[in-house]
Amino acid sequence: MDFFDTVRKRRSIRHYSDEPVAQDDILTMLEAAILAPSATNEQPWRFIVIRDKGLREGMRHVINTVVETVIASAGNELRQKRLADMKLYSTHFATAPAAIAVLARPWVGGGYAPPASSAPRDLALLSVAMAVAHLQLAATALGYNSCFASGPAEFAREELEAILGVEQPWFLVGMISLGRAAKPPRERPARKPVAEVSRFIG
Ligand SMILES: Cc1cc2nc3c(=O)[nH]c(=O)nc-3n(C[C@H](O)[C@H](O)[C@H](O)COP(=O)(O)O)c2cc1C
Repeated sequence: MDFFDTVRKRRSIRHYSDEPVAQDDILTMLEAAILAPSATNEQPWRFIVIRDKGLREGMRHVINTVVETVIASAGNELRQKRLADMKLYSTHFATAPAAIAVLARPWVGGGYAPPASSAPRDLALLSVAMAVAHLQLAATALGYNSCFASGPAEFAREELEAILGVEQPWFLVGMISLGRAAKPPRERPARKPVAEVSRFIG
């Protein structure tokens, strides 16, 4: 598939068919991910591929429990509705045929003194985001669909890290759902036009 077709075709998909994702294809996606640029080439990423349905159901249960608790303490109905939506938005990795947990490790600095206290975490997240983009585009090029979700980590980072055996300094950034869409995607969420988000100097 032409690169620009791949970029246009990638969509965040949250409902999947049961069709499995071939192991070789997952390896190809991971090979694309590790070619991403990273700050001082630290490659601060780890990927945990999870096909085990029982494990993913357990993770979903943990997230739903946390979201329920947050909903119970939410002040108004609108916020409760938004939080209820976050259940699907944070757990579609459990119903996809495969999921990938994405971990990061704070930037060490490669001999450079960190210029700001936020740099270790910021640079780790930026680097990992690039790897996730590579992975998602590779998935699209191979005919699969995917969705990256930070929700699982936002709601239940510590609980999920414990389930997955994540050890410091590594931390969970999010989950990628992987598979083939159960139905055609809705219209793409609107994008701000290039003219609005860009400025040319010179
Ligand atoms: C940093 C980041 C966090 C995201 N978190 C979630 C999430 O928690 N749940 C979810 O379903 N989608 C999540 N998404 C996907 C976005 O909702 C999606 O990319 C956006 O709505 C644009 O739609 P598109 O990817 O189909 O073009 C996330 C995307 C990014 C880049």
